[in-house]
Amino acid sequence: MRLAIIGGTGVYDPKMLGNIREEKVATPYGEVGLRVGRYQSEEVAFLTRHGEDHSVPPHRVNYRANIWALKKLGVERVLATAAVGSLNPTMQLGDFVFVDQFLDFTRARPLTFFEGGETGLYHTDFTEPYCPQMRSTMTVVAAEMALPSHPDGVYVCTEGPRFETPAEIRAFARLGGDVVGMTSVPEVVLAHEAGLCYATIALVTNMAAGLSQTVLVGEEHRAVMLEAGEKLKSFLLNVLQRLPVERRCNCLATAGPLRV
Ligand code: HPA
Repeated sequence: MRLAIIGGTGVYDPKMLGNIREEKVATPYGEVGLRVGRYQSEEVAFLTRHGEDHSVPPHRVNYRANIWALKKLGVERVLATAAVGSLNPTMQLGDFVFVDQFLDFTRARPLTFFEGGETGLYHTDFTEPYCPQMRSTMTVVAAEMALPSHPDGVYVCTEGPRFETPAEIRAFARLGGDVVGMTSVPEVVLAHEAGLCYATIALVTNMAAGLSQTVLVGEEHRAVMLEAGEKLKSFLLNVLQRLPVERRCNCLATAGPLRV
């Protein structure tokens, strides 16, 4: 199975795939429950980041188990969705941002597969954290579907689960951040360490703290998500279909010595 979807906030339903079955995958970090379905001739793994009932907060997601499980299933490419707040006035509610860089402001999460000892020590190259080949496919497909989208952007990852203060948002904007969320790190880090191609479709569900007239309430974010949901689903499937079979990127070459 070469492809996987990690569904973030609002993306819980694997029904866009056919012939769905449940799988449990054992990993050194615990068991992972996921679905496997079929899209055209391909098997696709579908994993919900926060659980199907959205009960796992961003700082408690078992990121290492999730990525290990996908690697163990033979997955090569991961397409992740993420709800984000926007710090950039050109990135508006409902826009899709194909982030190319991140700024890491998490502080208490397992960061790596390489903890020394038996797991080894490895410094992974992060020049291109998000797979450029997947990002360019996403850009082409989004243009064809006339989706409001941005071909790059800097994702600021905060620890959460609280939202940011307006002062933090002003500081992140000065540092070059475009969107803010709570989950891309360490998910992209672990995927990259494992040699998986990984790309994020960041969907702007709100303007970040201090840039919006209203206080940040999850319900409003979900409303934007719901409205964009159908577009997001067909976009995901179109991207999966259009990814060239051959991987022409450095994602595998820069992987660490992970033995799954
Ligand atoms: N901040 C952090 N995470 C988020 C936001 C936000 O404004 N919106 C959606 N996820």
